[in-house]
Amino acid sequence: MTNTLFRTKKVEQSIRDTEEPEHALKKSLSALDLTVFGVGVIIGTGIFVLTGTVAKNNAGPAVALSFVVAGVVCALAALCYAEFASTVPVAGSAYTFSYASLGELPAWIIGWDLVLEFALGTAVVAVGWSGYIHSLLDNAGWQLPAALGTRDGAEGFGFDILAAVLVLVLTGILVLGMKLSARVTSVVVAIKVIVVLVVIIAGAFFVTADNYDPFIPKAQPVPAGDGLHSPLIQLMFGWAPSNFGVMGIFTAASVVFFAFIGFDIVATAAEETRNPQRDMPRGILGSLFICTALYVAVSIVVTGMQHYTMLSVDAPLADAFKATGHPWFAGFISFGAAIGLTVVCMILLLGQTRVFFAMSRDGLLPRFFSRVHPRFRTPHRPTILLGVIIAVVAGFTPLSELAELVNIGTLFAFVIVALSVIILRRTRPDLPRAFRMPWVPFLPILSVAASLWLMLNLPAETWLRFGLWMVLGFVFYFLYSRSHSRLGREEEADSGRPGKPPGPAFR
Ligand code: ALA
Repeated sequence: MTNTLFRTKKVEQSIRDTEEPEHALKKSLSALDLTVFGVGVIIGTGIFVLTGTVAKNNAGPAVALSFVVAGVVCALAALCYAEFASTVPVAGSAYTFSYASLGELPAWIIGWDLVLEFALGTAVVAVGWSGYIHSLLDNAGWQLPAALGTRDGAEGFGFDILAAVLVLVLTGILVLGMKLSARVTSVVVAIKVIVVLVVIIAGAFFVTADNYDPFIPKAQPVPAGDGLHSPLIQLMFGWAPSNFGVMGIFTAASVVFFAFIGFDIVATAAEETRNPQRDMPRGILGSLFICTALYVAVSIVVTGMQHYTMLSVDAPLADAFKATGHPWFAGFISFGAAIGLTVVCMILLLGQTRVFFAMSRDGLLPRFFSRVHPRFRTPHRPTILLGVIIAVVAGFTPLSELAELVNIGTLFAFVIVALSVIILRRTRPDLPRAFRMPWVPFLPILSVAASLWLMLNLPAETWLRFGLWMVLGFVFYFLYSRSHSRLGREEEADSGRPGKPPGPAFR
């Protein structure tokens, strides 16, 4: 039994699978496409919305340091991802990588975990987008009924119609083909980066030094009875739960971590990349570096424009300009943010469908989902199924609870990827690696520790929800995936045939 749970899919076999015509995706992306793709998904709700929330509630102006902390955790993970992506250039991201190194059960766990990350991440961004559109509509004097608005803090039954419609429209675009979406992406990414640069450059003129005092606000106890909302680490060590102070920087880092999610998705496009061995590491590290620099600059400027206690939690970047008497800038920023979030949402959805596609191709999810569309060559079935589910989730669920769940899932994936780097170096030292991470195993171990640290700074209730999701995953694996695994079936067929060499058959 242990053997089957940890059966690994050979890297060569993973690559062979992608070459079967009916399961093959088009190879059309370059390093520049990947960087644009990365920046396109990385800059989003995190910087546009969460910066204000955590500065106000957890870290004050020191939120800039939180971005540095989260950026370092991601840079370590990015090195691991870059090595893996350049070694195993097939669709599926951390899922595929772990299948080739840790075995089937760990791969299933990570795939299941990525479903959580990408699907809920798409929903979070769609809801954030809807908030910005509502704010633009407000400016124009139009308002939708409250029951059709965002669900964060809303009372009673309601459905966020704009968020749901966005997800459905993007699903349609993805079904029509990657090329179309990549072209649209480049234009929109340019708009988004311009908006961020406008915030930094124009905002720098409106900074007041007094707003940085105190830069790290003193720790404040949180009200009693809020136990489950407190970071797990504070409960574990029996510390009095608090906000701000040095621990607040880490709490904030575990939330703004959401702002970095996406660089790992670049790795899911490996199969659609012309030269993955060279271009993957460039695309992943390049986009991560650009975004970290922009985030730190934006948070320093925004907390300098407005005292952290006054920052808005809905549209902090735009509202800081309103507060300093520049509504024109505010309108421009809101408009750009709404456009930018559209692309983030689309790329998260794309990453999601690619992981689902890879899992289905391996038989761990029904094979029905891995037939590509005869004309568009896209995995239309998982795209449509997930698009509809995510639209419903985005319509009904508040943003704040989802974001933390996305973070814990992603950090967990980072832990497994870092472990996989170490294991694969030992078990398959022979594989060519276009990008080799330095100081193995020291850096991957540091990456595991850093990701775990951020996870521990997430609320206890987030841990509970995540645990529940993973239990569901185990149940599905043992009831369905284990017996339908393509690898398992091939191994069975091989062992039943006399005179055939052991090991998985290539088709
Ligand atoms: N990093 C992306 C965002 O902040 C997911 O929206």
